Amino acid sequence: MPGSLTADSIGPHLPVGRIEWTVHAYYVLGSTNDVARRLAVGGAPEGTIVVAETQTSGRGRRGREWYSPEGGLWFSVVLRPHLPPERAGGLTIIAAIAVARTVREVSDVDARIKWPNDVYVGRGKLAGILVESAGEGTLVVGIGLNVNVTVSDLPRDAGHEATSLSAEGRRTFDRAALLGRILLEFEPRYFAYRSPEYPQHVEEWRELSLVYGEEVVVTRGDEELRGTVFSLEEDGGIVLRLGDGRHEKVLPLGDVSLALRPF
Ligand code: BTN
Repeated sequence: MPGSLTADSIGPHLPVGRIEWTVHAYYVLGSTNDVARRLAVGGAPEGTIVVAETQTSGRGRRGREWYSPEGGLWFSVVLRPHLPPERAGGLTIIAAIAVARTVREVSDVDARIKWPNDVYVGRGKLAGILVESAGEGTLVVGIGLNVNVTVSDLPRDAGHEATSLSAEGRRTFDRAALLGRILLEFEPRYFAYRSPEYPQHVEEWRELSLVYGEEVVVTRGDEELRGTVFSLEEDGGIVLRLGDGRHEKVLPLGDVSLALRPF
């Protein structure tokens, strides 16, 4: 099928850099994150990619279902950064920057990062990122990008509206090229994050952020925090300035979500 995602169609688009990328492409899978984690536990090297045309049990954060029809880009990458667990949240931001940058390079779509793990266009969710642990020092970074997907086919979630790149960009996109481009944007930022100079991504995150300086409601477990996003932190956390003037840092870990103040 033209435009399908196979190891052969993706291969020419893989960047040549420090990581040696290896593609495992499937037509249908439960979840690419699950297969990538199994491969990682079995010893697969950093740079192992699992991609599927469609997922039957794609999932998002907080146990949510991730609808994964044909035409989207659903993939997971095995990484072995050996970071302390509290710094894993920053990698979600690095992945979100890579996705947002890619979208902005290939189209005129104003893709922005919505903390903690999404890429939005306006008030529509374009992509979601799910970083999961796969044992000592190892993470699986799962990326779901609604590419050539009809918006009316995407479920309307309680918390957000969904959109797709083809709807926003008014044309279809080559998913193999997009995958390669995301990796190209990701790799240098990933190595910078692993190195001691890791704060360098914060400025770029601020530029691309949908929430910086905005009034938001953050839900953390049973707690609801209302305030303005005062700063973005190296570890992927945000600092809110609350109504009473106090500052509260929230990490992108566990049961946490953010809603923008309605228009
Ligand atoms: C979210 O919005 O909460 C994150 C969604 C992440 C979806 C991607 S699609 C590829 C990978 N496999 C999954 O099951 N989930 C991620």
